Amino acid sequence: MSEYWSEVVHRLTPYVPGEQPKMANLVKLNTNESPYGPSPKVLEAIREATGDSLRLYPDPNADRLREAIAGFYAPQGLEPGQVFVGNGSDEVLAVAFQALLKHGRPLLFPDLTYSFYPVYCGLYELRYETVPLDEAFQIRVEDYRRPCGGIIFPNPNAPTGRWLPLEAIERLLGEHPDAPVVIDEAYVDFGCETATGLINRHPNLLVTHTLSKGRGLAGLRLGFALGQRPLVEALDRVKNSFNSYPIDRLAMAGGIAAMEDRAYFDQTRQAIQASRGRLVPELEGLGFEVLPSLANFIFARHPAHAGADLAAALRARGIIVRHFRLPRVEAFLRITIGTDAQCRILADALREILA
Ligand SMILES: Cc1ncc(COP(=O)(O)O)c(C=O)c1O
Repeated sequence: MSEYWSEVVHRLTPYVPGEQPKMANLVKLNTNESPYGPSPKVLEAIREATGDSLRLYPDPNADRLREAIAGFYAPQGLEPGQVFVGNGSDEVLAVAFQALLKHGRPLLFPDLTYSFYPVYCGLYELRYETVPLDEAFQIRVEDYRRPCGGIIFPNPNAPTGRWLPLEAIERLLGEHPDAPVVIDEAYVDFGCETATGLINRHPNLLVTHTLSKGRGLAGLRLGFALGQRPLVEALDRVKNSFNSYPIDRLAMAGGIAAMEDRAYFDQTRQAIQASRGRLVPELEGLGFEVLPSLANFIFARHPAHAGADLAAALRARGIIVRHFRLPRVEAFLRITIGTDAQCRILADALREILA
């Protein structure tokens, strides 16, 4: 605390990211990174971009990156003018909160969801109400039938991995034509349907996405948002009032290559889905209840063991998973899907711990 702080800083409760341990040789299954890393074409593009041009500012609009992203979503009828890019989707979300979600009426999001949302509300002094997930930890569209200034949730949701079908999202959009609805698709690449095909029919829909998970680029910091042009213009207006150059030259080069290398993207995300398909029955065989997940993580609890104890026992064996000390989910572990070899190490360790 200091007398020099702005008033709002006194009231902030900042987000606490999952641990990034300094030790090597850990099986790191706590922050939903890809176990495969980026496409070799991304590394090549970054190497090529490393040179004298680094003395020059990058393109403030990141036009070529926006084009590459729009190219990926061309089947959904999207164009470069419908793409916004940012330094990780956290930054994109931060911009969206300020540009689109701050209204007189409260913002709605689930009681169990990405814990950065209430933090942005604190930063921008934005009112919000949480809407409880049902007993099966699912979002129920009917529960959002109340006056609001906007709605946001991830699909699939984090930390549960549960998802809403497109038909339910479209119903939600239709029921709230006056409110912006942000669907955070950070985890959409692992078997869930994207809502981007609904954008041209729904002027209130903004979809955000990241290259951190499905494209293995958490370290490069790239995210984007897709929506009709007036929504993207709002995001650009905030961005250009805050930081002209959020995407550096290396990120731009790597991001373009990542969006263009579809074969590598498909191969790695399919491998993760296959590993998830093998890990779930294995954990169920050990007595875990595993929530259905279309994300690159699973959310699981054991009827006879506390989540915190299991997380600590795994940690003692060099395996890090995420445990949240939150009401309703304290018994759960959120486990990132690693390679098959990492999943094996995890399952063997749990078998030993439970024996
Ligand atoms: C639901 C959700 N949205 C957004 C993000 C932010 O991702 P990034 O800033 O790496 O793009 C995360 C990160 O874990 C997340 O879980």
